[in-house]
Amino acid sequence: MNLDLSKRMRRNRKSDWARRLVTETTLSPSDFIWPLFIQEGCNEKTPIPSMPGVYRYSIDLLVEQVKEAANYQLPMIALFPNTPQDLRDDKGSEALNPNNLVCRAIREIKSLGLNIGIMADVALDPYTSHGHDGLIIDGEIVNDATVKVLTQQSLILAQAGADCLGPSDMMDGRIGAIRQTLEQNKYYNTQIMSYAAKFASSYYGPFRDAVGASSTLQGDKKSYQMNPANSNEALQEVRLDIEEGADMVMIKPGLPYLDVLKNVKSTFNIPTFAYQVSGEYAMIQAAVENGWLEKEKIMMETLLSFKRAGADGVLTYFALDAAKYLLNKDAI
Ligand code: PBG
Repeated sequence: MNLDLSKRMRRNRKSDWARRLVTETTLSPSDFIWPLFIQEGCNEKTPIPSMPGVYRYSIDLLVEQVKEAANYQLPMIALFPNTPQDLRDDKGSEALNPNNLVCRAIREIKSLGLNIGIMADVALDPYTSHGHDGLIIDGEIVNDATVKVLTQQSLILAQAGADCLGPSDMMDGRIGAIRQTLEQNKYYNTQIMSYAAKFASSYYGPFRDAVGASSTLQGDKKSYQMNPANSNEALQEVRLDIEEGADMVMIKPGLPYLDVLKNVKSTFNIPTFAYQVSGEYAMIQAAVENGWLEKEKIMMETLLSFKRAGADGVLTYFALDAAKYLLNKDAI
C-alpha cells in the first residue's frame, strides 16, 4: 500500500502548544450568563432535587452569589422567582407588583454597584395559578391581552433596575410592544434579549420544579412555544423579533438545537445566545453523580460546542463553575 501522506492532519495536533496554536474556538467567563432562582425568606437556601448543585436563594444569600459571579467576571445573571403559591392567581397579578420578589432582588443587587448586568424574565408563568406564560380566556391562551400585561411587567422590571429583559413567553408582537413601552417611558437603554426561538421542549421540567410551576401547569405550551420539528419557522421568529427591536436573540433549548442556532447566526449575524436548559443540566449532573461522565470535561465540551456553532454566549447553570475553571483550574 502506498499512502500519500504529504498532508498529515495530525501535525497540528502533535502537542498541547501545537493544538492551542490552531484552536478555532475559545471560552471565557464573559461568554456565560448565570440563571439564578430566588425565594422568599432570610438565610434560606433550598436545593432543587432535579438540578443537583442548583439552589433557590433568599435575597440576602442571592446577593452573595451575585458578588461571586461578578468576581469571576460573569457579564450577566438572569433572575427567576419562585413566587409563593398563595400569591399566584389566574391572571398572574403578582407580576405587576413593583415590590414582588424579583423586583426587590433587582433593587438589592443594583444597590451594590457591581460590574454585572441583571436580566429579568418577562412571562407570567411564575405568577399564574395555571402555570402558563399568558392569560387564559375560555380555555385559550390569549395573545393580545397577554402582551398588554407583559408590557406592564416589563416596565415594572425596568423601573426596578433590570438592565436587560428576557421575554420568554413566545406571544406574537410582544417585542415590539415592550420596546415601544420602554421608549415611551424613556428606558432607552434597557436591552431586550428575546427568547426568539423557544421550542415546546421536554427539557424544561427541572426548571418548572425550581420555580414551583410543575405541579400547577395544566396542559402543555404547544400553542405558543415552537414545534421541535421546525427550523425555517425559527428564522421567521428571529426576523420578526429583530424588526420589532430585540438587541439580542436566544435559541432554546441548547445542544439539541445547535442546527437552529447556526442557521440563525449565519442568517442574521446579530448577537445570538443559546440556553443550555435545566433538563440538559440535569442529564449531565445525573451522569456525573453516577460517575459515568467527568464534570469539568463534559461541561467545558458542551459550552465550547455552543460557541463553535456560532453562539456569542450561553445561559447555563454551569456559568460560575465554568468561569472558575477557566480562571483558576483548582477552584471547583
Ligand atoms: C418560562 C421559562 C421557562 C424556562 C425559562 N423561562 C420554562 C417554560 O417555558 O416552561 C426554562 C429554562 C430551563 O429549563 O432551564 N417562561
